Amino acid sequence: MASEKNPSKGTDFITSTLTAPLSQSESALRPLSFADFAGQPKTVDRLKIMVGASKRRGESLNHILLSGPPGLGKTTLAFILGHELGRNVRVTSGPVVEKAGDLAGLLTNLEEGDILFIDEIHRIPKTVEEYLYSAMEDFRLDIMIDQGPNARSVRLSIPKFTLVGATTRSGLLTAPLRSRFTLNTRLDYYDRATLVGIVQRSCGLLKVEIDDGGAREIATRARGTPRIANNLVNFVRDYAQEKAQGKITQPVAAAALELLEIDAAGLDEMDKRVLRLMADNYKGGPVGLGTIAIAVGEEADTLEEVHEPFLIQEGYLARTAQGRVLTAKGYHAIGLKPLTGTSEQQALL
Ligand SMILES: Nc1ncnc2c1ncn2[C@@H]1O[C@H](COP(=O)(O)OP(=O)(O)OP(=O)(O)O)[C@@H](O)[C@H]1O
Ligand SMILES: [Mg+2]
Repeated sequence: MASEKNPSKGTDFITSTLTAPLSQSESALRPLSFADFAGQPKTVDRLKIMVGASKRRGESLNHILLSGPPGLGKTTLAFILGHELGRNVRVTSGPVVEKAGDLAGLLTNLEEGDILFIDEIHRIPKTVEEYLYSAMEDFRLDIMIDQGPNARSVRLSIPKFTLVGATTRSGLLTAPLRSRFTLNTRLDYYDRATLVGIVQRSCGLLKVEIDDGGAREIATRARGTPRIANNLVNFVRDYAQEKAQGKITQPVAAAALELLEIDAAGLDEMDKRVLRLMADNYKGGPVGLGTIAIAVGEEADTLEEVHEPFLIQEGYLARTAQGRVLTAKGYHAIGLKPLTGTSEQQALL
């Protein structure tokens, strides 16, 4: 069963069949097969081809890199790959693999065809990354043991495994590492229709009654993200139980989400703080991301990984060579009229 993940030791990893450290509700709602996994048609088609070919040839799956913002299904897909192939999935994460020895411990414990899932692979130390190259390419590791005059290199051979890497920042991966993945595929935000389906599926699993209006209301406010949709479902379910005899309808969902201060477009408090800051203090920009981060009290990395991609995709913000610029839609989202400001802004209004 689930072994505890010890963050201080790279060799301590989770032996899977779906025992990753999830909250109970998250693991209950996680799709187990391609058939349950909604959306991401391009990525799913690519993965299905690779899985089919690998099964037919009886060979291990080629290495795969999954990238994209948090909560879109990277970890879910890694487990689905294991399930579809009937293989174990071993889970670790970039910062946990501190030394080459940690990596050796992980790799030599694999069986042929197993999947090694490295989450946050962009955070793997550079010194360890170099060992990964030969492991991925030639299934061997040349490790130096001892120091000084006794130093010698030992070659370990490794079972033919599949590396599945996940990253929210594929841009931070070095080119040599990225090029060793046969498939590099990016997950996108989900459209509303797909999220409606995910919300309905989750309610089915949680045995909560929901009508179409309720599902649409939750999906619209989920920031294109299944994890957020499921979190909202859980909250709205509690609200419905306390205030509306357990049934989720559009007015019930809207009232519950109002209580969470999630607006009709799904923008959360931090999203709106960013937009408001840009309008109030910087006349809509351009303004640098670092400046925004300090002013709203958030890490620049978090803004760049979590908030900005959604704001840009939905057209609230634009990225220019001079910095971030608020668009007309961005002004409207915080109840303001666009300023007729700099030429960068003019171009966007
Ligand atoms: N396509 C999908 N269909 C249904 N549910 C999904 C889908 N994708 C993700 N989910 C749900 O969203 C939750 C979060 O997904 P997951 O943990 O795979 O995201 P992630 O991309 O690994 O995020 P992070 O970058 O934070 O690790 C899952 O537990 C699952 O319930
Ligand atoms: Mg994950």
